[in-house]
Amino acid sequence: MYLASSLKKSSFGQEFVWGTATAAAQIEGAFLADGKGLSIWDTFSALRGKIKQNHHNQVACNFYYNYPNDVRLMKEMNIKHHRFSIAWTRVLPEGVGKPNQKGLDFYDRLIDFHLECGITPWITLYHWDLPQILENQGGWTNREILNWFAEYVNLCTRKYGDRVKNWMVLNEPMVFTGAGYFLGVHAPGRKWLNNFLPACHHAALAMGVGGRIVRQNVKNAHLGTTFSCSWIEPYRPEKELDKQAAFRVDALLNRLFLEPVLGLGYPIQDIPLLKKIEKYFLPEDEKLLPFEFDFIGVQNYTREIVKYSFLTPYINAEIIPGNKRNVLHTLMNWEVYPESIYHILKKYHAYPQIKKLIVTENGAAFEDHLHHNEVYDTKRLQFLQEYIYQVFRAKQEGVNVQGYFVWTFMDNFEWAEGYSPRFGIVYVDFDTQKRIVKESGRWYANFLSE
Ligand code: FCB
Repeated sequence: MYLASSLKKSSFGQEFVWGTATAAAQIEGAFLADGKGLSIWDTFSALRGKIKQNHHNQVACNFYYNYPNDVRLMKEMNIKHHRFSIAWTRVLPEGVGKPNQKGLDFYDRLIDFHLECGITPWITLYHWDLPQILENQGGWTNREILNWFAEYVNLCTRKYGDRVKNWMVLNEPMVFTGAGYFLGVHAPGRKWLNNFLPACHHAALAMGVGGRIVRQNVKNAHLGTTFSCSWIEPYRPEKELDKQAAFRVDALLNRLFLEPVLGLGYPIQDIPLLKKIEKYFLPEDEKLLPFEFDFIGVQNYTREIVKYSFLTPYINAEIIPGNKRNVLHTLMNWEVYPESIYHILKKYHAYPQIKKLIVTENGAAFEDHLHHNEVYDTKRLQFLQEYIYQVFRAKQEGVNVQGYFVWTFMDNFEWAEGYSPRFGIVYVDFDTQKRIVKESGRWYANFLSE
């Protein structure tokens, strides 16, 4: 049997990019510093009862002030690529209009410091922290978002495009529209189809709108956008109803945003609830939706097992979480199933329109114990090794996958779950802001040192 732990970095080839990923709203803190405006996550997490244990992201990892130490630590850990995001509200506190010089300066310093440390920056333009002021005008449900977003992307790419070549337009549109505009469990906490469908359509359009601006402003850009995706299987494979339910959930989670970008249109045939999305179409949208990205970012954490459910509106399907199936699972109740990434990579590779895949996020939250200044997170370490092995397997079989980013560099604000699920390969003591490299982090540093 092949041992995932004996895998070498060199087996992936010279071109393959290895890194770690973070996001502004999860690490920066300094939520009001130097003229920053409020984002929907600042306001949402300030409301009681929205985030577990009423945690908020006002301080988070204090990365805004601590970035030199953190980036230096990345360097010490042999990390050569860091995917991070820009907080829209730092550079445009009002969402549009007058830029905030101090906010712009922060990312200038941050980018320069990465380069100084020999770390290539990979910027995500939108990792969920919409300016609250724009949400007050409808946020993603208002078609004006396309103009607002264009202005923001234009500003960032003009400012940083000389030094930053790797750009991602959106982070996981399915999650921010689904959790934020349908289920109401993420910011901005809106619900139901009348919010979800316009938000979906505008997010789908935003990928091309943003992408075209990046192309225009950044010479030799290496441009992508990222999707959450999970391998889906029916709960009872012999039952036709479960199979069909799994098929619908796959279309919703893995195809809804990808296919219009690839020029295939929305999978309306396979997700009946999408029918009403056409209401938000303008004649030019058919041309605006497709966009040729250099790479597609794959973000995979688990597989989903799906059962037919009469009671679930619109989709008649129910996901059975890992903790209800008596399988190994993480603190998020996500099943540990490394082959999921292999299947997803193969599935996406089968689209001839996709040129290249990069795993822009993968990782796990397990219980971490700090003991004598050490964290032995053996489960996370094994998880990463096994997932990386599955990426290797797909690559061996001809899938053009050219990068892997661990989610995440350090423990941080895990959205509605607060600070308890720790995903970092570096431990953060949130009382003292001390960083402690976990066993998984030491392993990754060693793996990368080759
Ligand atoms: C993804 C998000 C990322 C992080 C991980 C655990 O959905 O993109 O910010 O929260 O999940």
